Amino acid sequence: MKKVLVIGGGGREHAIVDALSRSPQVGKIYCAPGNAGISAQAECVAIKDTDVEALKNFALENSIDLAVVGPEVSLAAGVVDAFKAAGLRIFGPSKAAATIEASKDFAKQLMAKYDIPTAAFETFEDYEAALEYVKKGSFPVVLKYDGLAAGKGVVIPETLEEADATLKDMLLDDKFGKGKVVVEEFLTGPEFSFMCFVDGLDVYPMTLSQDHKRAYEGDKGPNTGGMGAYSPVPLITDEDLEYSLEKVMKPTAAGMVAEGCPFTGVLYGGLMKTPNGVKVIEFNCRFGDPETEVVLPRLETDIYDIFSAVADHTPMPAIEWKKEVTMGFVMASKGYPGDYEKGYEITFPEDLGNVRIYHMGTALKDGKYYTSGGRVLMVVGFGENLQEAHDKALAAVESIECDNLFYRRDIGWRVL
Ligand code: AMP
Ligand code: GLY
Repeated sequence: MKKVLVIGGGGREHAIVDALSRSPQVGKIYCAPGNAGISAQAECVAIKDTDVEALKNFALENSIDLAVVGPEVSLAAGVVDAFKAAGLRIFGPSKAAATIEASKDFAKQLMAKYDIPTAAFETFEDYEAALEYVKKGSFPVVLKYDGLAAGKGVVIPETLEEADATLKDMLLDDKFGKGKVVVEEFLTGPEFSFMCFVDGLDVYPMTLSQDHKRAYEGDKGPNTGGMGAYSPVPLITDEDLEYSLEKVMKPTAAGMVAEGCPFTGVLYGGLMKTPNGVKVIEFNCRFGDPETEVVLPRLETDIYDIFSAVADHTPMPAIEWKKEVTMGFVMASKGYPGDYEKGYEITFPEDLGNVRIYHMGTALKDGKYYTSGGRVLMVVGFGENLQEAHDKALAAVESIECDNLFYRRDIGWRVL
């Protein structure tokens, strides 16, 4: 039986642990650092997800057969490179390949060079030059800080005054750090998340999902890490999917190989179906969160075999998906994505129905669950259709008691 170490401690990692626990080959799962919900299915180890040395030593000492990386911060810290150098098997991209997410400018230059459809753009280090360029363009305009900013590095100003203030924050006052800004054309249309298992030139698509990035109902309020998701996405046609695979994901994987940083792991295409065809909004170098929580429960194939095929560069098994569909609601601490308080007790009813609860930010004390993060729970419903999955998830959400959580009731509004 195999021993697996999952790195990370959110809802995404809970869904990865859950999928691994369904593998008949996997005997023991560790999760570093994990969380209260994960601890019911894996042994949580108190090591930070960016402490590469400690993670590597733990894997060596415990004869781990395979490590799986969740968060981008671990990848950007070089965890995959360090594990490989120590002869350990690990699923995830190298630090160099993770740049596709860590640097918006790198991703945009790659797309320009390899003809991958995306919004028109220009990159600036100089505030005056950026402002001149914005003045000549139209509004709204999209300003993206060139670095990891935990989902807060994208601002879409409606006016010149607002754009000017943002450029000052990003380029003069270094509010996000010292960096560049990508100024991008504003696109419109529904977004969808296309995650693929990638091993160099080989690209294996997962079923589609759709996230809900804004904090409040009606897609209002600030951008968040994601407030809910569902899978599959009926408004994306087979032709859109074919185009996304052949014209976006495969050429991107090939571009990474040509640039000398082949990608191994999950390449996440944040795509938009615009009136002029599918275009790339962003790339991520890892599973999406909360998308993973609605995608992996639908996976029929043994995920240990999939991770192994990528980690070892061996043939991929046929990847099968269940007919059953999923929709999930995020329950977040009041105030998120801004400041919020922690430590509120959560009570779950005895019988929640046909749902899975993935813990994003919880802590366990004396047998009781408490909130410990911005996003706290992702409640996923299952059904024959999205309406049924929606109703089951929402009923479960409404039966969970906590004084400091909020959620969007309109998850799936585009398709219901
Ligand atoms: P990103 O971090 O690049 O995914 O951007 C965060 C969110 O900002 C996206 O999910 C979109 O909703 C929005 N966004 C980013 N780029 C554009 C664009 N070029 N046009 C319209 N909306 C965008
Ligand atoms: N839910 C969006 C992301 O994982 O980046």
